[in-house]
Amino acid sequence: MEQNRLNSFLEPYDAPSWTEGLTGVPSHKVKLSQSDTPLERWNLPGVPDGYEIYIKRDDMTGSVLGGNKVRKLDLLFADAIKQGCTAVITAGALTSNHCRTTAIAARSLGMDAHIMLKTDQDPDSVPCAGNYLLDHMVGAHVYFIPKTSKMHDILPRMNQLVDKIKKETGKKAYIIPPGGSNAVGMFGYVNAFAEMEKQGVCDSFTDVVSAAGTGGTSTGLIVGNYLTGNKLRIHGMIVSLSFNHNNLNKMLQDVGLQKPDGTGVKSEDSINIVHGPIGEGYAVNTPEELEFLADVARQTGIILDPVYSGKAAYHLVKKLNTNPEIFKGKKIVFIHTGGVFGLFDGRMENVLLAGGGSKKVKVWNELTNDAP
Ligand SMILES: Cc1ncc(COP(=O)(O)O)c(C=O)c1O
Repeated sequence: MEQNRLNSFLEPYDAPSWTEGLTGVPSHKVKLSQSDTPLERWNLPGVPDGYEIYIKRDDMTGSVLGGNKVRKLDLLFADAIKQGCTAVITAGALTSNHCRTTAIAARSLGMDAHIMLKTDQDPDSVPCAGNYLLDHMVGAHVYFIPKTSKMHDILPRMNQLVDKIKKETGKKAYIIPPGGSNAVGMFGYVNAFAEMEKQGVCDSFTDVVSAAGTGGTSTGLIVGNYLTGNKLRIHGMIVSLSFNHNNLNKMLQDVGLQKPDGTGVKSEDSINIVHGPIGEGYAVNTPEELEFLADVARQTGIILDPVYSGKAAYHLVKKLNTNPEIFKGKKIVFIHTGGVFGLFDGRMENVLLAGGGSKKVKVWNELTNDAP
């Protein structure tokens, strides 16, 4: 009965024709993301003359179900349903966009979400704000695990949870890797690449830039670029400690583009990795980075987030000014991967008060002849 209800969400996945020949192309998807996001000209402040920057609005793949993660979840939730699962388990940072998106997607399909958040804080001392607030609003089961947890600490916990959920609720739980980055999830960015191809990106653009963490986004772009003739240079702005070429190579192996001996398509040769953007640490920002976010918002109406897209855009501008030779040419797409809820932790208010005075409020109680 429950399985029939969940099966009704499955739609055939119509993969781009150039993926024919890959192994493990998903057969189904669930429609969670709003696809065909706009590609717009972007007057990003600080870009030297002669460059044309466009922005792929993947912050518009949805509202609370938005950003890059939901594209991966379209395929991952379909896989979960096909395997007869009615609960999902995943992990991420305390303020993880991926965990929030997974929790909301699960609830919208009537499934349970169990999310493991990396923090050493006491649950009573964590303010219920941003992504963490949304996790609780949809009733996710939340587990705090040590902040320094790596995959070898996380995976055994995930397996234990699978057993516990089965024993206590009878439900079969599906494990979604951190960031949704595996050979199933990365098809979300194969799809995004196909959209950009339709939008003319392979014809006249030279470079594609996005924030990189667990690497599923970058791998989907690498796969699309390779299979359509390597016309673009892909850049990954490293904003999280979880980035590792091994993750990307594993996904490339799982779809059959890299052989087990490492020959074939290699992450190291397919993407230009920029290591600076993590700056002072994951989710830690300098005053200059936050002022940049405020400036971009004031000048272009684009709201970047402090953890991912903001750092990536800040370093795009920096690299265009200091190391332009890393770019193939002058027509660049920046993928806005979402993350807006990372703005709501109070830090931006101080920037607005201290900076260009964009927080201007006049109290207007009395109606007189002139506006204040
Ligand atoms: C807003 C945002 N941008 C970019 C990324 C990085 O994407 P990926 O993990 O696929 O490298 C993430 C994921 O952690 C994210 O939440």
